[in-house]
Amino acid sequence: MTDAPGLTIDQVDPQDEPALRRWYDVLAGAARSGRAAPLVVTWASISASLQHPGESRRRTAVAAVRGGEFVGAMLVELPLLEDLATATVEVDVPPQHRRQGIGRALWAWAVEHLDQQGRTVVQTEVHVPDGESVRTWPGARFAEALGFGSENVEEHLVLPLPAHPAPVPPAPGYRLVSWAGACPAEFVDAYAAMWSAMSGDVPTGGLTREAARWDAARVRATEARLARTYRSLATLALAADGEPAGYTLVYADLEQPEEALQDDTFVLPQHRGAGLGYRLKLANLAQLDGGPRRLHTWTATGNAPMQRVNARFGFRLVERTHEYQLILR
Ligand SMILES: CC(C)(COP(=O)(O)OP(=O)(O)OC[C@H]1O[C@@H](n2cnc3c(N)ncnc32)[C@H](O)[C@@H]1OP(=O)(O)O)[C@@H](O)C(=O)NCCC(=O)NCCS
Repeated sequence: MTDAPGLTIDQVDPQDEPALRRWYDVLAGAARSGRAAPLVVTWASISASLQHPGESRRRTAVAAVRGGEFVGAMLVELPLLEDLATATVEVDVPPQHRRQGIGRALWAWAVEHLDQQGRTVVQTEVHVPDGESVRTWPGARFAEALGFGSENVEEHLVLPLPAHPAPVPPAPGYRLVSWAGACPAEFVDAYAAMWSAMSGDVPTGGLTREAARWDAARVRATEARLARTYRSLATLALAADGEPAGYTLVYADLEQPEEALQDDTFVLPQHRGAGLGYRLKLANLAQLDGGPRRLHTWTATGNAPMQRVNARFGFRLVERTHEYQLILR
């Protein structure tokens, strides 16, 4: 029982598919509410992850139920390979059930659970539409009422597709290799090294975050998991000596064919300024088929080089993603 009358907070058994589906519909519906271009975790992705957990994270679905109705949903995620004191928590309450203490009741469940799990750093993302602010947006008001602070801000940008970026000549001294699906075996070690370098270099503001260590086996496990929900498109830049210089990665969503996600783009510091960022993205975009209508990306507000590359493609700001953090004790 909670302070909100008649409300119970409980884990949802991921094998109970009808209950999981009700939980998901509440989570996704509330997460989309009031946003112009929300990109919300798909049913295929979240159900697969909850029903067949991988070794990199443990996820728990939690529902707020009143009179048999699901009135709130929470997803708690514990990273298992690094960031072992950290958890991410997402709380979603549909607009008609807000300001009744349901969000707070879900959060109280999370605090108790995280204490048992020994997790003391809690992170959550709040997507604030352009035109709103952390002073006006419910998610930000809620996070701040619980004591969270915004530690990093990324712009969520969307490029309407098909795009018509200006062609450019190749960057002298570099070779680009593109693939769809799994990375070709000859590049997988280089690709893993790039993922590790990216993880250590990406700006995360004041967030507590450890760099991830990638090797070929971890890349393969991630590729296999993601292949259930996405078509991955990657382009790797190789320097004249054959060493990797950078890469970029796009996920075309199989369940939402109109949406594609521009994930990592990374160029090693010694290869920056040679125009690789634009060329990598250009070569990779050429692999997109006609399906997706929107390409989403997230770039830190202060990341001027990537912002310039994005502007050349025609990406437009739709919202700011605030990464909030709270240290529990
Ligand atoms: C954020 C969200 C979960 C809040 O759910 P909720 O059930 O309305 O939250 P509660 O009623 O428990 O509110 C707890 C406190 O948060 C603050 N708060 C929540 N919504 C607020 C709003 N719209 N304006 C001002 N303060 C707000 C208040 O301090 C509130 O306490 P009070 O009602 O006693 O003043 C809900 O708005 C939502 O689902 N938003 C979309 C998803 C999201 O952004 N989640 C946040 C990241 S995890």
